[in-house]
Amino acid sequence: MKIKVLRSLKAKEGVLFAPVFSDATKVSLENFPKEVKSFLELVKKNEEFKGKKDQFAKTYIESKTLPEKLILKGFGKIKNYTAARAREMGALIGKVIADDKAREFSLYILPEMDAHIVELLEGLLSAQYKVDAHKSKKKKEVTKILNLITGKNIAAQIKRAETVNRATGFVKNLVNWPANIVDADYLAKEARRIARKNNYKVAVFGNKELKKMGWGLLLGVNQGTSREARCLVLEYNGGKRNEKPIVLVGKGVIFDTGGYNLKPTNYIETMHQDMAGGATVLGVFEVLKELGIKKNVIGVIPAVENLIDGNAYRPSDILKSYSGKTVEVTNTDAEGRLILADAITYGVQFKPGALVTIATLTGAVGVALGSRYAGILGNNVPLRNRIRKAGLKSGDLTWPLPLPNDYKKRLDSKVADLRNHDLGREAGSSLGAAFLERFVEGTHWCHIDIGGTAFTEKPKPTQTFGATAHGLKLLLNFLES
Ligand code: BES
Ligand code: MN
Ligand code: ZN
Repeated sequence: MKIKVLRSLKAKEGVLFAPVFSDATKVSLENFPKEVKSFLELVKKNEEFKGKKDQFAKTYIESKTLPEKLILKGFGKIKNYTAARAREMGALIGKVIADDKAREFSLYILPEMDAHIVELLEGLLSAQYKVDAHKSKKKKEVTKILNLITGKNIAAQIKRAETVNRATGFVKNLVNWPANIVDADYLAKEARRIARKNNYKVAVFGNKELKKMGWGLLLGVNQGTSREARCLVLEYNGGKRNEKPIVLVGKGVIFDTGGYNLKPTNYIETMHQDMAGGATVLGVFEVLKELGIKKNVIGVIPAVENLIDGNAYRPSDILKSYSGKTVEVTNTDAEGRLILADAITYGVQFKPGALVTIATLTGAVGVALGSRYAGILGNNVPLRNRIRKAGLKSGDLTWPLPLPNDYKKRLDSKVADLRNHDLGREAGSSLGAAFLERFVEGTHWCHIDIGGTAFTEKPKPTQTFGATAHGLKLLLNFLES
């Protein structure tokens, strides 16, 4: 989509959107042409449209100077026009644009909307995302034009929304496309492309390097697949020379069958989403430099596949981690924490100011919090609060879950230093995080469990089918805070 800014309405074709706040003043409606005003008066008189946030009113107008289709879009009360509302309104308008065959669209930006242009455009652009990239017969793609009608200079806001949206689409593709297309090598290729384009440092470890370093947990998980394991490391230096880096670790399980603790039908089908954490970290690096973020950031993405064959790891196997700790595998489906543990040990060596893990770590987080809130856990409350705040600002909501000492003891093993699961069903997300904590060595650490939020088959108005990229904007805002 191509966004243009017009000082006054010039388009004669396509669709014209007129936003209407339910308590709009005469002044804010003054800019509308008389045809728009008279339609608004008519629908209001007939009580068909009051400007409520879910309302639309559509008509065709005969005019030589205006687009022929006119859509009034309710925006709710002015005082309720928050960042979240702006995103929602943008998405609703965006959905109409995505489904309409017109080429040109025009939208009035009223003074009441000035504070949340970025969010409005984020919603509007993200609704254009298409999940059908792998259909062989595609509709002809035409570049749609969106005219924003405003007297203000909003070039910076448009740029910001476009940049963030590019990262969002990138993450969605990685998560939506299946494991036979997006495998560990594909992620490695993308990491290298991003590094080349932005002049970041990059390293891609394969089986040989990982074995030499002793990443026994990660390699144990990957044993059942014919593909090589990878770990991608990206390094961006936007901060001061001696400033401690922030390390982002993202789970990259390209497909999670559960291993010999095999997932059943209805649970296994969408497990290509299990690299969403890793995809999110790649998405951050895709735009870090362009957004001019002034931090030193290191991304670590362990990428493996949890399959079954004659070499696959078994429940009861004892694996030796990169840290030296031994782990009894009580459940091969608790594989995320295993690969993250080795990646965390690697990340800790940079002596980071903060280490953030983001992962589709548990299904339990979706049971506890549903599909709107990611779980957030860690060993440092101020860091957790900063991340929660960044999530609130970006619309990626989180809610804290506890990590009490007696829960942590549930991971003690009789035969190894610890085990990866306790065979129970209580507080599964806390238990997963408790495992990670054993490897952070006191580093300020925060864990975001996106197991319930990364992927949806019932998208909300602000989402598209499949991947949500939940956590991407949160991390970007966090790095900017
Ligand atoms: N990748 C899954 C978690 C998951 C489930 C993410 C559904 C998204 C949607 C993870 O590896 C897993 O299998 N977790 C198990 C842990 C259990 C065996 C301790 C779970 O949550 O059931
Ligand atoms: Mn699993
Ligand atoms: Zn998994």
